[in-house]
Amino acid sequence: MTTARDTRAATVPTQSTYQNRVADYWNAEENPVNLELGRLDDLYHHHYGIGEADWTVLQEDDPELRGHRVTAELHRLEHAQAELLASHLGPLTPDDRVFDAGCGRGGGSVTAHLRHGCHADGVTISAKQAAFANEQARKRGIDDKVRYHHRNMLDTGFESGAYAASWNNESTMYVELDLLFAEHARLLRRGGRYAVITGCYNDTYGQASREVSLINAHYICDIHPRSEYFRAMARNRLVPVHVADLTEAAIPYWELRRQADHLVTGIEDTFLDAYRNGSFQYLLIVADRV
Ligand SMILES: C[S@@+](CC[C@H](N)C(=O)[O-])C[C@H]1O[C@@H](n2cnc3c(N)ncnc32)[C@H](O)[C@@H]1O
Repeated sequence: MTTARDTRAATVPTQSTYQNRVADYWNAEENPVNLELGRLDDLYHHHYGIGEADWTVLQEDDPELRGHRVTAELHRLEHAQAELLASHLGPLTPDDRVFDAGCGRGGGSVTAHLRHGCHADGVTISAKQAAFANEQARKRGIDDKVRYHHRNMLDTGFESGAYAASWNNESTMYVELDLLFAEHARLLRRGGRYAVITGCYNDTYGQASREVSLINAHYICDIHPRSEYFRAMARNRLVPVHVADLTEAAIPYWELRRQADHLVTGIEDTFLDAYRNGSFQYLLIVADRV
């Protein structure tokens, strides 16, 4: 479906110098931890994993086999995170549409489609990611239902009230929450479901810790405090129905990843320190659009 509004939004995917920098980052990004894991089953996730890890992968004697097993185990944990999010999108039918805000290389929309049979529109500020994800959907034969767009998630140009569910998976730290939640509230139909998985800084710690600041610098992002999510949701007709602190569940993933010499990016110990010193939390928030 293309409307005049669609076309206009598609020509202005970035709206600030900051957003250009974020787009440059994701257009250039080729980390093995993102690409090698995705190649296993063509589900490309750019988020972290949850759940208990199978530590026997580290005991493999053959270095090559050990590498493969570690890669597969990290991918399993990342996919478990995507499945958890998809399981909170509410009852969806194959006729429903869902909106994946900040979709990366597309794994989240595919996961939601495979689970619910629904239509999905993924949006990323990176033209390269959108093209890559569309090619994956084409190869999988689901491009009639799963589509990716090079657009700004704050101003998608999509039709108001057309979506039964929407989410952000580790992409809220790139935008102002009020602008983002206003767009979700506009796109979701009344009674629609919004879900977010995100790292946030813990208000009880005080301010953002040194580790949180290092993570911001590493990814060119701006991690919000936990409190801000609930304030901004309340201001934008999003009423939380379920909140889960996934911090403990995320630690095995980071412990395993820091020992994966072929995949480390250098930020692993910072995440573990931030989680353990209480300054940083990994949260799932599910809300109803009222
Ligand atoms: C850490 S990745 C997460 C990708 C995906 N949600 C996943 O779980 O695999 C962050 C994503 O947010 C996107 N992003 C950042 N700012 C954006 C904006 N203003 N509009 C659309 N996408 C944006 C980036 O292009 C990137 O795809």
